[in-house]
Amino acid sequence: MKFFIDTANLEDIKDAQDMGILDGVTTNPSLMAKEGITGIDNIMKHYVAICNIVDGDVSAEVISTDFEGMVKEGEALAELHEQIVVKLPMIKDGIKACKYFSDRGIKTNVTLVFSPGQALLAAKAGATYVSPFIGRLDDISTDGLNLVAEIRHIYDNYAFETQILAASVRHTMHVIDCAKLGADVMTGPLSSITGLLRHPLTDSGLEKFLADYKKGN
Ligand code: G3P
Repeated sequence: MKFFIDTANLEDIKDAQDMGILDGVTTNPSLMAKEGITGIDNIMKHYVAICNIVDGDVSAEVISTDFEGMVKEGEALAELHEQIVVKLPMIKDGIKACKYFSDRGIKTNVTLVFSPGQALLAAKAGATYVSPFIGRLDDISTDGLNLVAEIRHIYDNYAFETQILAASVRHTMHVIDCAKLGADVMTGPLSSITGLLRHPLTDSGLEKFLADYKKGN
């Protein structure tokens, strides 16, 4: 399973990249705003800065909601850097734009996916990635992981090449469950990745090994 980090924070991206386990980055307008990145020029520069840190795909989201606007924005984003993936909302014009970009060999990520039918449409349109939002479904008492399982089943039935990018991952158990279900990619905050490191028996075991070494040296 690929590990993407869901942030526009350069320090967190560097941290995950330095661990050697990072495969890409996802961003969205809310994450950009959280880092105080505003204005189209600054936003474009920030995408390039992210691409220069990570070896892998970087999802950059359009803010237009009409086909022409999405195509114009997506083309400008794709020209920024070869690692850019054009992130499109799961609406009718977003699907049309997804087909437009996939026909031209430009990578896409269809976002805000909350149902198997939406994921089926994204695959039909040739999306590189489909992003089911697990945490936001859990937030409304609906099983987000079940959506990942349903999409995996449908995609496997027809050998769709669209990769399932489990998004809105909030914590380590989401990561582990996504891996069990066969998600191709997960994207979450740095804490959902570093949390996987922790186990009290690792800490106490290491402490004892070091103490025993000191006794003999
Ligand atoms: O990748 C989608 C993500 O940014 C949404 O996460 O935690 O805001 O639901 P969250």
